[in-house]
Amino acid sequence: MILLCSNGLSSYELLQEAKKAMGGAGRAALVVTADPEYKEKNYHVERCCQEFAYLGLETDIFDLDAQPAGQLLQYGVVELIGGNPYYLLDSIRRHNAGDALRRIAGEGLLIGWSAAAMVLGPDLGLVDQYSPEMNRVGLTDLRALGLAQVRVLPHYSRFCTRFEDFEGRCRAYEQRHGCKVIRLNDGEGVMLEPEPRMVRLPMGVNVAGVAFHNPLIAASGTFGFGREYGQLYPLSLLGGVSCKGITIKERPGNPPPRVTEAPGGMLNAVGLQNPGVDHFIREDLPWLSKQGTRIIANVAGNAPEDYCQTVEKLNGTCVDMVELNISCPNVKQGGVQFGTTAQGVEGITKEVRKHCQKPLMVKLSPNVTDISEMALAAEAAGADAVSLINTLTGMRIDIRTHRPIIRNNTGGFSGPALLPIALRMVWQTAQKVKIPIVGLGGVSTWQDAVEMLLAGATALQIGTVLFTDPYAPQKILEGLTRFMEEQGVQSLSQLTGGVRPW
Ligand SMILES: Cc1cc2nc3c(=O)[nH]c(=O)nc-3n(C[C@H](O)[C@H](O)[C@H](O)COP(=O)(O)O)c2cc1C
Repeated sequence: MILLCSNGLSSYELLQEAKKAMGGAGRAALVVTADPEYKEKNYHVERCCQEFAYLGLETDIFDLDAQPAGQLLQYGVVELIGGNPYYLLDSIRRHNAGDALRRIAGEGLLIGWSAAAMVLGPDLGLVDQYSPEMNRVGLTDLRALGLAQVRVLPHYSRFCTRFEDFEGRCRAYEQRHGCKVIRLNDGEGVMLEPEPRMVRLPMGVNVAGVAFHNPLIAASGTFGFGREYGQLYPLSLLGGVSCKGITIKERPGNPPPRVTEAPGGMLNAVGLQNPGVDHFIREDLPWLSKQGTRIIANVAGNAPEDYCQTVEKLNGTCVDMVELNISCPNVKQGGVQFGTTAQGVEGITKEVRKHCQKPLMVKLSPNVTDISEMALAAEAAGADAVSLINTLTGMRIDIRTHRPIIRNNTGGFSGPALLPIALRMVWQTAQKVKIPIVGLGGVSTWQDAVEMLLAGATALQIGTVLFTDPYAPQKILEGLTRFMEEQGVQSLSQLTGGVRPW
């Protein structure tokens, strides 16, 4: 079988397709030959190995320029990664690798992405119209392997925003050659069985112009910057990651104890411990940007200037969205002080909006009388979306010492017990604002996720559940997929706001 995609098995759906198609294979070969400059240093390699590990496959890096192509036949799964299609095609020809690839497609699973998806197709005509300058090997015969009888255009939406008249040129190509080009977005694919079948992203959602593969976003402060969870599964399983709240300067956070359990959840008063925005941009973002998931930078500060300076630093980065944290209950200055009056919300949002060139989402505090008023204020001040809810302020006391268990005395309460409150607040807010809502607070199962969408959320975040079950995202996605199939739901937007109040 052949699977063509844009950037590896970079979505829940593609991972599931590969799992079904790989049979009992135990080893995979990752062919890195399309990228002559990087080979195994290519940053995609780490992610691809991780995707295979998630499928239970051991990975060998394979270089056609250095190893006999016949050795590929030992592998049940072979993945050709992207790079320079001319170089890859030339190399396959020079090393007579075409036959081995044909046999793997017949007997096992052959995955080709980006440049390789084109090389497995009929010819390189399409890439020649967009990027002829890549033909540094001087190929004149642009006929490709023809193992796949479809022409794909990878990274479609991404390239539409990057290159002038990308769609127009594609249409002109189709007309000139009397053919159909499959426009593939990252995370999508075409499975040839051998007839082509599209692998789409039925759980895909759009929040303020940002397309997420699915609605599941890791909540700020419960996922760090993703590296630890990235050892458990590919982060591309998630629609996005909201990073730990970052500030203009590094912060040590509050003294311990900073967390404790509570019935139905937990209390935390971490106090925005983080390495500062410069460190985030230098050390964390480069890694995160290669994981095939959307990145939300959660921004906090002591004063409006701090927020503004921080978002300005993020403007030139690959962060997809900024989440303005004006709802942290655990710091003395900043945080929730901006988030508990409509005037405060409007003021800080307006100020930050002037400096923020990214889609701006304002995260609201539940520690208010009417959260929908705060959402309206954020919307009026130019927010593109709101996320709700942050933690509810709580307290626990040691009955022997009479001391609060949390050193900060109070902390933010999160976890399953929050769900009904969060649902009520999302529902009330959805009736007031036009901008999209990202719902969170206690979401732990796929059923909770469906409720959150029905209440009015376009996407959702999960936080505390990750501490008790780091694999919760996968379980929620499995459940959502089954639910959509059972109920005949084509797109999750059909569920958003679908609650039928009495
Ligand atoms: C340990 C911990 C740290 C958190 N840190 C942040 C943070 O830095 N910024 C933020 O906006 N929210 C932070 N939150 C709040 C969560 O993002 C989320 O709003 C809250 O926990 C409710 O969702 P949940 O019940 O799914 O955990 C934190 C929560 C926890 C438990």
